[in-house]
Amino acid sequence: MEVTNITEYQAIAKEKLPKMAYDYYASGAEDQWTLQENRYAFSKILFRPRILIDVTKIDMATTVLGFKISMPIMIAPTAFQKMAHPEGEYATARAASAAGTIMTLSSWATSSVEEVASTGPGIRFFQLYVYKDRNVVAQLVRRAERAGFKAIALTVDTPRLGRREADIKNRFTLPPFLTLKNFEGLDLGKMDEAADSGLASYVAGQIDRSLSWKDVKWLQTITKLPILVKGVLTAEDARLSVQAGAAGIIVSNHGARQLDYVPATIMALEEVVKAAQGRVPVFLDGGVRRGTDVFKALALGASGIFIGRPVVFSLAAEGEAGVRKVLQMLRDEFELTMALSGCRSLKEITRQHIMTEWDASGPLPAPRL
Ligand code: FNR
Repeated sequence: MEVTNITEYQAIAKEKLPKMAYDYYASGAEDQWTLQENRYAFSKILFRPRILIDVTKIDMATTVLGFKISMPIMIAPTAFQKMAHPEGEYATARAASAAGTIMTLSSWATSSVEEVASTGPGIRFFQLYVYKDRNVVAQLVRRAERAGFKAIALTVDTPRLGRREADIKNRFTLPPFLTLKNFEGLDLGKMDEAADSGLASYVAGQIDRSLSWKDVKWLQTITKLPILVKGVLTAEDARLSVQAGAAGIIVSNHGARQLDYVPATIMALEEVVKAAQGRVPVFLDGGVRRGTDVFKALALGASGIFIGRPVVFSLAAEGEAGVRKVLQMLRDEFELTMALSGCRSLKEITRQHIMTEWDASGPLPAPRL
């Protein structure tokens, strides 16, 4: 049967993939409350469409950190894509560049920065996990720069790995034929088996729990690339991100895989946007599955969104063709949403085009600092 929306790839991936791989991709942390909420919260936002506007031409193009892309829909970093499909990150990179949008490559990719760059031209960001060994970090950032990556997405919500119970039950570890390709030459490319989640043990051993705001500054001393702080959920941290020199903020709860019972990202977005005061662009990821979700995020002030799981699920189902189809379906739905709301360009999408549950009860109280 024909796939008609991006969510349908999840069931196909579940059938095709070994249980350990599927569970790793699909899981959230603990009770998975935030995982559900990331989706459900979008359904609490409704449209206030405008009518009788000539929508013959719809322009979805935008600019992110000065780079022109065809639509405000980008690819979030997800680890171990070759576990979904033999072409893994290569397929994702090709699909993103064919769609004229940005791919973010995970630190924990199963293809290296150089390999992904070799797939051809494309605007790519590199997601960074900060290892205890800062020489490793400095080397990796330099390699990403040299390979033509245009920005660093610094993940700040993972001083320890969230408790994903399926991975613990499955004793999750990478299949033996795969490695964390970026770390292969550094002897950090293997994830050992552990009594619980192999990934959780790897993180505990290698990732720097002491990471703090001063390291955001330190990162700027070792690279000229703009830094996006990925994992902001509060106004307080939005302000600190701007002060620390971030070029942008990604409102993210890591696809609900870290701290459970944080709000859906779409609920946290407006507070962060207000705190950023237009000084840096604010992006969102988490639960975006429909063109209407993209529109809602933009109406609440996001400059663009990223998708995570739909990429690995469509990769598992159909490889590069699947990822292309995901991007195309989301683009088509978003274009239709714009037309039916009376918006011809992204700047015409305003807060007045939506209403939220919290609009009725008046503005949210200002956060206490
Ligand atoms: C992730 N995410 C993630 N984030 C990151 O900074 N580095 C990483 O290596 C990964 N790896 C990863 C693997 C898998 C399987 C998932 C599902 C997620 C988080 C990711 O970048 C993004 O924040 C979420 O996936 C967005 O939510 P959705 O679109 O999956 O709902």
